[in-house]
This record gives sequence, C-alpha cells and structure tokens, in this order.
Amino acid sequence: MDKNRVYVFDTTLRDGEQVPGCQLTTVEKIIVAKELEALGVDVIEAGFPISSPGDFQSVVEISKAVSEPVICALTRANTADIDAAAAALKYAKRKRIHTGIGASDMHIKYKFNSTRENILERAVEAVKYSRKFVDDVEFYAEDAGRADNAYLAQMIEAVIAAGATVVNIPDTNGYCLPEQYGAKIKYLMDHVSNIDKAIISVHCHNDLGLATANTIAGVFNGARQVECTINGIGERAGNTSLEEVAMILKTHHALGYTTGINSKRIYELSNLVSNMMRMPVQPNKAIVGRNAFAHSSGIHQDGVLKHRENYEILDPEDIGLQSNSIILTARSGRHALKHHLERLGYKLEKINIDDVYARFLEMADTRKEITDHDLLTLMGDGADSN
Ligand code: KIV
Ligand code: ZN
Repeated sequence: MDKNRVYVFDTTLRDGEQVPGCQLTTVEKIIVAKELEALGVDVIEAGFPISSPGDFQSVVEISKAVSEPVICALTRANTADIDAAAAALKYAKRKRIHTGIGASDMHIKYKFNSTRENILERAVEAVKYSRKFVDDVEFYAEDAGRADNAYLAQMIEAVIAAGATVVNIPDTNGYCLPEQYGAKIKYLMDHVSNIDKAIISVHCHNDLGLATANTIAGVFNGARQVECTINGIGERAGNTSLEEVAMILKTHHALGYTTGINSKRIYELSNLVSNMMRMPVQPNKAIVGRNAFAHSSGIHQDGVLKHRENYEILDPEDIGLQSNSIILTARSGRHALKHHLERLGYKLEKINIDDVYARFLEMADTRKEITDHDLLTLMGDGADSN
C-alpha cells in the first residue's frame, strides 16, 4: 500500500444532505452517488439508515447502484442503529458501518449525562457489535476537536483493539486551529500503540473557515482519509470541501500525496449538486466559484493574457472548465478589450483602438460588466443595448 495515498470519503449524501432545504429524493441521490463514483471517491457515506425510512431506502438503492467505492452507513453507538445500518447495506459490494459517540467532556456530561468510563465502554461495545455484520468498521469520536487528548488516545486505542479499521477524529464544531488539529493527530500517531492497525480519518467543520486547513494539517500529521462534501455543504458553515482538498493535494503534488480523484469531473459535479440541492455556490468560492477563474482588473487581465500562470496557479481545464474568463469592466485595459474584439472577429489593424477604448470606458462606467452584445453595439454592429 502506498503510504501517501489519501483516501477520499465523501459525505455529501449524509452530512451534506442533512442541511435544511438540501434534501434529495432517492433517485437524485443515486445520480449523485454514480457521479461520485466516476469522480473516483473511495468511500460514499450514503446515509443514516435509522433516521428515516427514506434514508434507509436510499442506502439500499445506492448500495445496489454503485460498485467501486465502499458504501458507508452512519449509526450512533447502539444496537438498533447498527442493526438498521447492517440491513440497509445488505446489497453493497463493499460495505462499512460508521459508528461512534461523543468524546469531549462537554458531550459526555451535557449530551450523555455520563462518565468517561461509561462512554468508553459504549464505544467499544458499538465497534464489537458492528464487527458482527461487517469487516470494515469506522469509529467516530464526536467532538474530538475539543476532547482531552489523553482520553481520546485511550478511546481510540480501545476501539482499534475492538476491531475498528478506520478511526475518525471529527472537529465537529469547527473549533480547532490548524496547528492544534495537526498536533492532535500527531498525538494519536505517537500515543496510540496499535494505530498502525487502523487508518486515521479527518472530518472537519467550517465554523471558523478552517475546515480545509485543518484537514490538510491532519494529513501532514498522519491522517490518510479525508471526509468532505461537494461544495463544502454541511451542518451550519459546512464541511471540508472535497474540491479544495483534492486540488490542494494535486497542486502541491511535490509533497507526494495522491488521491484517486479525477479532477476533470469536479466542476460538473459541483454544478449538479448545487442545482439539485438548490444551494448556490458563493461566487468567490475556491476552485468552483463563478469567479474562481475570472479576471477583472486591468493589471491581472494583461498579466494573464501574456502568460496564464502569471495569475493562475490552477489550470481551469484540470477541474473540467474549458477556459478562464476575462471579464470586461471599467477596470479593464486595452489588452483585455483587444482580446475580446479579436475573439468576436474584428481585425485589430483596422480599428482605432484608442478611440474604441475611450468609448468602451464611457459605456463601462454605466454597467457592472460589458457583454458581447454591448461590444457589438459599441462597434456599431448590434442593436442598442439600452
Ligand atoms: O461532525 C461530526 O462529528 C459527524 C460525525 C457523526 C461523524 O458528522
Ligand atoms: Zn460532521
């Protein structure tokens, strides 16, 4: 096994889909699951079967429809949840139960009204019970971001001994700084005696805008599974966005980390998920936002037209976009204007560019953006565009 292969665990259909307004039908979930398979994710978290009959059925149908990735179902640490997950995964070719319990003192006291000892026992029992149904059991230590590291290490060691194959260290509330989260993963690597028997997984939320940074810090410190969603959708401020992590590891390939992601499918899947979930992507979102490859200031437009890499560290084609875009605004210079006139078929040697540019600026001051239709009007070839 390549020690720097990073497994991508997609939870768009579980942590992402539980966002109000983002619910999908089973048929829609199957479409997304098949696209995730084509994208090359390693694990699809297909749902939380006990939560509703619809979620149960979706896990059943996704298990039938998808063959390459592992299909994972979420449970709490109790037998009813685990029974439901095992039943829903019946048809999966490769299956995983994802069970777990709170690990922070906050959760132990105020969510479970319990003690560290009792929670540890319940964690171990849940893993042992899950192993009766499947060989692949992932354990999540909820709110690990705020948990005491020594207790967390004790819990992780015990669940691995009980049969967990993957141990998920969620920063459930998006609390950690990258240094803290990275140090937590390193602490587990150094203090859990049987850690070589399991893969550490990172699952970060974005409450402070640090989900991606924390995920990468986790990888640098030994995690080899990353849990993410398309467009970073998820509870509150969302989860780590898959496209960001995939493109960070690809852009910094010199670090040696690899994934199975076919990045050329990213843009299309981002649109599909956004449209199906009626969840618009913010325009300046890294990688998939409308402006991620759009250049609008004159200095940047001139630079990018001279050499794309002057202002682009990513190739738009790598995420499946045909090209970048040069947006014409009142901040654009002659170079950008010429570029668009040529694209529209005008012969620059026949044009007095100073004159056209002066008229362009007058028009641009009255508009947010100059369209092709506006340019045709400017050149006297289009109907007036108000
Ligand atoms: O954020 C979280 O802790 C979770 C777990 C259920 C894995 O989503
Ligand atoms: Zn989560």
